[in-house]
Amino acid sequence: MNLKNIKTINCNLFSYLFKNIGDLFILMKDLKILFIGDIFAQVGRNLVVKNLTSLIDIHNVDFVVANGENVTHGRSLSLWHYQTLQNAGINVFTMGNHTFFLKEAISLVQEKKNIIRPANYSKLAPGRGSFVFNLKNYQIRITNLLGQTFMPQHVENPFLLLDEIVQKDESDFHFVDFHAEVTAEKIALAWAFDGKITGLLGTHTHVPTSDARLLPKGTFFVSDLGMTGPYDSIIGAKPEPIIHARRTNLPFRLIPATGRGQFCAMVLTLDVKTKKVKTYQQIYQIFA
Ligand SMILES: [Fe+2]
Ligand SMILES: [Fe+2]
Repeated sequence: MNLKNIKTINCNLFSYLFKNIGDLFILMKDLKILFIGDIFAQVGRNLVVKNLTSLIDIHNVDFVVANGENVTHGRSLSLWHYQTLQNAGINVFTMGNHTFFLKEAISLVQEKKNIIRPANYSKLAPGRGSFVFNLKNYQIRITNLLGQTFMPQHVENPFLLLDEIVQKDESDFHFVDFHAEVTAEKIALAWAFDGKITGLLGTHTHVPTSDARLLPKGTFFVSDLGMTGPYDSIIGAKPEPIIHARRTNLPFRLIPATGRGQFCAMVLTLDVKTKKVKTYQQIYQIFA
C-alpha cells in the first residue's frame, strides 16, 4: 500500500467519522415542541398564519401540535382551514368536543393521520385517538382525550382508556391533550399517569392557567393552554349575545369575535437522554 492509498483511507475514515459524529450530535440534541391552545375562528387562524414562522425561529421549534377543534367559525375543522394551518407550520392537530360539528370533518379525520380526535369516543367513531409520529428518529405519540365532568358528550372513562394506550405504547415521548372542563379532573389524570407519560396539556376552557409544572416522577402538566383567538371576547365569541342569553335564559347563536388576538401556547424542551421534559415556557401574547 503506497502513501497515496493510506491518505485516501484516512480521508475516507475522517469523513465517515465526521458524518457519524455529526449525525450523533443531531440525534443527541434536545427537541423542542410547541403546543398551541384551541385555535379559534378567523382571528386565531390569522394569528397562526402571521406569527408561527417567527415563533418557530425564535424558539428553535422542531415540531408543532395545535388544538384545532374551534378553527372553522368556532366549531370543527374544514379541509381548507386544515391545509392553511398545515402550510403555516402545524404538524399535528388535536381535537375536542366540536370535532364532528362539520360533516366534512368525518372524512378529514379518516384521511389525515395528523388529525387526532378524542380517543375515548365510541370505538366505531372515524379517525384515530392516538398516533405515533417520527421526529429526527424519535417516536412521539400524541393522544387526545375528552373529560367526563360537565362535558356535553358521553365518552369512555379517560383513565381506563389511557391505561390501555400506555400499556401498548413503545414511543420515546407521549403527550396527551386532555380536553376537559374541570381543572381537578385534569390534575387527577396527570397525577395518575405521572412517570407514565411525558406530558399532559389541558385544553377546552380557552383560559390559560398558571400552574405549569413537572410532577414528582417527571411528567409535565398544565391545566389549560388557553385559546389562540379573539382577545376581546367571551372564550372566543362576541360578548353581547352571550350576556343577553344569560340575562334572559334564551338560547344564543355563537358569533366569533373580531379585533385583537391572543396567542396561547407552551414551548417544551425534551431531553432525549432522559426522555423527559427539561424546560417549559408559557406563551401568552396579545396582538393588536
Ligand atoms: Fe375549544
Ligand atoms: Fe372544547
